[in-house]
Amino acid sequence: MLTARIVGLAIVIKLVIPHEIPVLGDIGEFYNCFFLEKKCPSENISFWLYNRATQHHPYLLRPGSESNLRHAPLSENGTLLVLVHGYTGHRDYSPNSELRPAYLEHDDYNIITVDWGQAAQEPCYLHAAYNVEQVGQCSVELIRLMYDFHPEILSIERTHVIGFSLGAHVAGAIGKRFKSEFNTSFPRITGLDPALPLFDSLLTHSEYFLDKNDADFVDVIHTNAGRKGRLYQVGHADFYINNAGIQPGCISNSSCDHVRAVEIFAESVSSEAGFWGVPCSVQAAQFMIGFVAEACTLGPERELKNDTSLVLMGEYVDESTNGTFLVRTQNKPPYAKGRLFY
Ligand SMILES: *[C@@H]1O[C@H](CO)[C@@H](O)[C@H](O)[C@H]1NC(C)=O
Ligand SMILES: *[C@@H]1O[C@H](CO)[C@@H](O)[C@H](O)[C@H]1NC(C)=O
Ligand SMILES: *[C@@H]1O[C@H](CO)[C@@H](O)[C@H](O)[C@H]1NC(C)=O
Ligand SMILES: *[C@@H]1O[C@H](CO)[C@@H](O)[C@H](O)[C@H]1NC(C)=O
Ligand SMILES: *[C@@H]1O[C@H](CO)[C@@H](O)[C@H](O)[C@H]1NC(C)=O
Ligand SMILES: *[C@@H]1O[C@H](CO)[C@@H](O)[C@H](O)[C@H]1NC(C)=O
Repeated sequence: MLTARIVGLAIVIKLVIPHEIPVLGDIGEFYNCFFLEKKCPSENISFWLYNRATQHHPYLLRPGSESNLRHAPLSENGTLLVLVHGYTGHRDYSPNSELRPAYLEHDDYNIITVDWGQAAQEPCYLHAAYNVEQVGQCSVELIRLMYDFHPEILSIERTHVIGFSLGAHVAGAIGKRFKSEFNTSFPRITGLDPALPLFDSLLTHSEYFLDKNDADFVDVIHTNAGRKGRLYQVGHADFYINNAGIQPGCISNSSCDHVRAVEIFAESVSSEAGFWGVPCSVQAAQFMIGFVAEACTLGPERELKNDTSLVLMGEYVDESTNGTFLVRTQNKPPYAKGRLFY
């Protein structure tokens, strides 16, 4: 037991030190890195509308053109999903590549993909992190125009913003900005393994990262906690998957662990078994790696079919869920285990 704790602690210490970000001194060498200008629309941020009709030929939403926005080919479904990628991403990168097909197979939603890939390029992590806020600002302006021009279909009450990695913090910035400018909150923001580097250390001011004030309900899935993803609790409901840091089926590959949050969320859109979480104490969850069994009072094998404390995670989470939860999954798709813990 003691050995397990020491090993666990050593892993935690190793994981909380970010190794994959360029250090400050390197910035000058990256001649194609830039900070976004404080103006919207920006030629470096684009917005694409997807629904069943435009799925393979997305409609480019041009915030500078009223006629373009008015003629946007929306589906009748009033649910608007806003998807935001992270560092090194683009409109066909996670979470878009997993979530768009999952949602559109399920229903004819309207989906706006925010593409800020120009401002999130490798190796410009620092610039990307600082660009988060401006991407949030320009997204708010576009979303607001869409509400104004399509009040019969779109509304903030039926908008769900979802961000992966650094994109989770863009989602947070969208929520914060919208609230400060229009005094209304999004009902829900989902953060899929919100990025760790910088966001736990240099930028400690909450203005820069997703937190529970950014929407009425903030749910978060952690799959690479302490390495590419944040270790600590972020939202109203934080779900730690398996041991929270290293995912089964990923072999020494933190990208695989990190993107698992997206794959799991995508699966939840039409999963019959569902992903169920068992409540854990908040404090313990911060040290889950190596401490899971004790923190969550789980035996090595336990069937919890009748346990009413279990909560459903993913697309259909109850928006009054509050706390920190452990979820166990399979090591390959379908990941859902239903109400079975082992
Ligand atoms: C867009 O990116 C270029 C670099 O590719 C930069 O020079 C320009 O200032 C950026 N524009 C804005 C509005 O940020
Ligand atoms: C949109 O899709 C959601 C989710 O399936 C469904 O509940 C809702 O009824 C649909 N709304 C419209 C207006 O079609
Ligand atoms: C913001 O909204 C809240 C609740 O709707 C309201 O009580 C408050 O007066 C509003 N504040 C401003 C500055 O409009
Ligand atoms: C690591 O995982 C990512 C995401 O699953 C995958 O694209 C990549 O090929 C993997 N890298 C290696 C070296 O296996
Ligand atoms: C769980 O519920 C099932 C059916 O509702 C019942 O047959 C079973 O005895 C219950 N198990 C426990 C441990 O309560
Ligand atoms: C959520 O849980 C925290 C900590 O247990 C508690 O302080 C807070 O009041 C709860 N919030 C709601 C809305 O239940």
